[in-house]
Amino acid sequence: MKPPGHRLPLFAAAVAAITGAALLARSLLPPASPFRLPSMLRPLLRPLLGAQASKSWRRSRGIIQHAIDAIIITDERQNILQANPAAAAMFGATVDDMQGAPLDAFIPRDQRLGANPATSHYFGNTGIHLRMKGRRASDYAVTGVRRDGQHVPLEGSISSLYENGKPIYTIILRDITERKQVQEKLAQSHTQLRELSAALLTIREEERKHIARELHDDLGQLLATLRVDLALLQRQVRAPEAQNVLAGMDELLMAAITSLRRIASNLRPRALDEGGLYFALESLRQEFVSHYGIACRLHANEEELILDDAHSTAIYRIVQEALTNITRHAQASRVELSLRRVDDKLDISIQDDGRGIAAQDMDKAASYGLIGMRERVWALHGDISIVSDGGTRIMVRLPLPPRPSSANPA
Ligand SMILES: Nc1ncnc2c1ncn2[C@@H]1O[C@H](COP(=O)(O)OP(=O)(O)OP(=O)(O)O)[C@@H](O)[C@H]1O
Ligand SMILES: [Mg+2]
Repeated sequence: MKPPGHRLPLFAAAVAAITGAALLARSLLPPASPFRLPSMLRPLLRPLLGAQASKSWRRSRGIIQHAIDAIIITDERQNILQANPAAAAMFGATVDDMQGAPLDAFIPRDQRLGANPATSHYFGNTGIHLRMKGRRASDYAVTGVRRDGQHVPLEGSISSLYENGKPIYTIILRDITERKQVQEKLAQSHTQLRELSAALLTIREEERKHIARELHDDLGQLLATLRVDLALLQRQVRAPEAQNVLAGMDELLMAAITSLRRIASNLRPRALDEGGLYFALESLRQEFVSHYGIACRLHANEEELILDDAHSTAIYRIVQEALTNITRHAQASRVELSLRRVDDKLDISIQDDGRGIAAQDMDKAASYGLIGMRERVWALHGDISIVSDGGTRIMVRLPLPPRPSSANPA
């Protein structure tokens, strides 16, 4: 028989083992889980748990205090329970100022959510009041107001946990003023680039038009006059050798006139200025069919294509680039070109039955055809989409200036 004194270490070892297991279980379970220590152990463990809890409380508090991001903890009525120095600095306040204050005090007046606390939630169940930012439902963008009245764009995340059966919210906020400024500058420079590109396209088109006109009216007239003079000379000269030379000169002159017309028309199709967009497209189509032997149909209405110069030129160039691409890349045998006016919009579709276009083709480094097409469409505030559906289909929708009504002639 063992002396009674041996029972005490045994009892202590048992308590220690149960305590260890209990503490281990508690540390392994998530904090919100309903784990409770056995009631008989509580009086024994209170000092131990109390010490542990206060150590972990001090650690959490230290993390919050020293965090670079602003951290605000509120109760369910959005009264601030705790704010860290970063939050105080963000709002130009002191930690003491913030603690106990309603969250409303740091939200611009026009964005506050009314007086009824039951419905005035900036987050929690009614998180929809805040503009969602990013993909996670807990990420928000909101405007804060500093103590000096200055507004600050903020981004943050909100999480909730329950304490004594009531929710408390942890809001982590970041000042995104700098990022917003960079984004605004980027957007501004993007707009400027777009405007520059539109201006360059217009200048280029004007220059082409000018050179084409000079070639046609100036050089073309000179060559034509030369040909008339040559014909006069041919009638007067009898010597066969001289006749041969003159005939050769006439041939050369004819070749020069033909190539001048070709160059001028490549620079600026005369049909665009003389016959309008429909005829310019029709002659482009005919040239395409006869040159490349690819069937091409034009579905359009001449009346609907009476447009101003900016629209006519842009549309012509878009179709021209699409047809050039088809001859170079598509291996197509049929092309359908359609231009339909629907109210004040023009729907353009260029479809081929070729090999189709791959997504990466659209972003090739040294390819400017599709980029130019997009720029022209965007310059006219339109939309463009390019899809591969058993070939390539380019769809453009352009808003058009309203047609002068026939009932109310200008
Ligand atoms: N109709 C089409 N069918 C198949 N692929 C196409 C078609 N149109 C364009 N592509 C592909 O898209 C790429 C980009 O076309 P894009 O017009 O931008 O450049 P490019 O024709 O190669 O050169 P350029 O700058 O002279 O126009 C082409 O290189 C080609 O691979
Ligand atoms: Mg191209």
